[in-house]
Amino acid sequence: MTEAIPAVVLGGTGYVAGELLRLLDAHPRFSLAAVMSDSQPGESVAAAFPHLASAYADLTFSSQAQVRSILCEAPRPALFSAAPHGVSAGLIDALLGAAEQAGTHPRVVDLSADFRYASAAAYTGVYQHPHAAPARLAQFTCALPEHLAELKTTHVAHPGCFASAILLASVPLLASGLIAPSVFVSGVTGSTGAGRKPVPGTHHPLRHGDLYSYSALRHRHVPEVAACAEAASGVAAKFAFVPHSGPFARGIHVTLQAQLSRPTDTHTVLRVMQGFYASAPFVRVGPSAPRVKDVVASNYAHLSAVVMDGTVAVLCAIDNLSKGAAGGAVQWMNRIFGLPETTGLTATAPGWT
Ligand SMILES: NC(=O)c1ccc[n+]([C@@H]2O[C@H](COP(=O)([O-])OP(=O)(O)OC[C@H]3O[C@@H](n4cnc5c(N)ncnc54)[C@H](OP(=O)(O)O)[C@@H]3O)[C@@H](O)[C@H]2O)c1
Repeated sequence: MTEAIPAVVLGGTGYVAGELLRLLDAHPRFSLAAVMSDSQPGESVAAAFPHLASAYADLTFSSQAQVRSILCEAPRPALFSAAPHGVSAGLIDALLGAAEQAGTHPRVVDLSADFRYASAAAYTGVYQHPHAAPARLAQFTCALPEHLAELKTTHVAHPGCFASAILLASVPLLASGLIAPSVFVSGVTGSTGAGRKPVPGTHHPLRHGDLYSYSALRHRHVPEVAACAEAASGVAAKFAFVPHSGPFARGIHVTLQAQLSRPTDTHTVLRVMQGFYASAPFVRVGPSAPRVKDVVASNYAHLSAVVMDGTVAVLCAIDNLSKGAAGGAVQWMNRIFGLPETTGLTATAPGWT
């Protein structure tokens, strides 16, 4: 029998952690060894996530000390961090430091923004506080698995939810030189994108039945998108991004528009995108406009494109918690551990959520 790989999750009571637990329950190789909660150590996991009660009936949240001893015992555990930015780097640094002293070798996928930047100065410029573990930045690569053939660092920083959709839509056309490097993006996210803590932007009476933009042209993830797009395509592009809050819990839809750099039709653009993602098992490119319901709660991304009068519109729908976070992280961890990229991730979307 093939041995289970112990997996540890940080940021335990959060939405992304909950989605990681759901995916790990169905995973044939990763086996949840602990889920850490800073606020609720010792409390019931099933109480925080009633939809996971049948999978984790008796499990309780672990403390940092308990997680540390697991990471110091297992020779090569998988560590997923779903802690917030500004917290994740310090936590990961402390846990990796302890593991290094114990001679174990955890591999990390961080869902926060903390390791998405090449330099601490660039991080501080956006997040306005010092980086907690600048010496570890070089140990992380920020990329989508679809856009990097060979991982050269030990750990991965997941690019994030809006970023995943924008990168999936933009990188093939930037890399092929089909569009000018000036990209206009409008995106709509579900309320789980804002995390578990209730705020006006996620409160049901304020959000239900409404649609509104926020941080127009000033969203803090834009520099991360531009850096990842350049690394993946070789083109330094400008992204003008207007995010919106949508009246649904899960899912992201982005619409990207750009000027074509040479005369091209819809069919050709779709062919270029299909060719680019020919070996990407979770990306589907077709002529129909993608719909959020077709991908919600799955790791699949649906893309399409339309050309008219020298302009291309690329459309992309993903699930923010899965492909845009937990699913993308498991996809990376599969690759890190030499498993088929699709392991544990091929469940289809329920369709009617
Ligand atoms: N939501 C999305 O769609 C999405 C998509 C991509 C990436 N992300 C990123 O993934 C991470 C988790 O997002 P989320 O939506 O799950 O957020 P969330 O629902 O707010 O959960 C974050 C969790 O982190 C822990 N935490 C909060 N403050 C902490 C502190 N000071 N020290 C230690 N732990 C603390 C809390 O869990 P405990 O108290 O139980 O430890 C909290 O429930 C974030 O970095 C986010 O930017 C989110």
